[in-house]
Amino acid sequence: MNYLCPSILAADFWELGRQIAIVEKAGVPYLHIDVMDGMFVPSISFGMPVLECVRKKSKLFMDVHMMVKNPERYIEELIQLGADGVTIHVEACDCITETLLKIRELGAKTGLAINPETPVSAVFPYMELVDMVLVMTVHPGFGGQKYITGCFEKIREMRHVINESYPEVKLEIDGGVTLDNLEKNLEIGANVIVTGSAIFKGDIEANVQEFLKRM
Ligand code: DX5
Ligand code: ZN
Repeated sequence: MNYLCPSILAADFWELGRQIAIVEKAGVPYLHIDVMDGMFVPSISFGMPVLECVRKKSKLFMDVHMMVKNPERYIEELIQLGADGVTIHVEACDCITETLLKIRELGAKTGLAINPETPVSAVFPYMELVDMVLVMTVHPGFGGQKYITGCFEKIREMRHVINESYPEVKLEIDGGVTLDNLEKNLEIGANVIVTGSAIFKGDIEANVQEFLKRM
């Protein structure tokens, strides 16, 4: 089973509610929420108040991607505000085991992300504690970047490990995904597909339909 996960980073914030309603009605299962702190990544996006507003009006699974240094500081608040899944970066956290355990204990799904230059082996010690591995396919921090094809091998390798030993774990990719590289990414084993610009630029409903048709 494959899941489309539109990233609201690329939405028009003036129209955020309306645009989320369009993707929800079109039948996507997940919504990707990119939280950036200006430290782990150069840019700052949005945080708790946005999550809170979305949760009040949308039933979509809120997949919160924490591009934040020491994300353990925010786990309770995120989940209390309605995050369904929280993904932390291996590069940004000094207490990964404790943080993943806490996410689970509070009833949310766990995700562990790696940057393009981080080997997949960095997540191996935590596989029992994760519901999803996120392989970044751009350098995190900005939407609209070009997909780094050097990541294909990492996705393949991760899929192999998951199939061998952790078949329940989802494999998410994030950054630069378009209709042109979707098929290739599915073929090599990604099953949660984050996409921002390719969904929210232009006709959102038509974009979602086109993605869903090919997944
Ligand atoms: C990048 C974010 C992505 C971003 C993807 O740092 O983590 O989720 O929104 O945007 P596109 O699909 O435009 O590359
Ligand atoms: Zn993201």
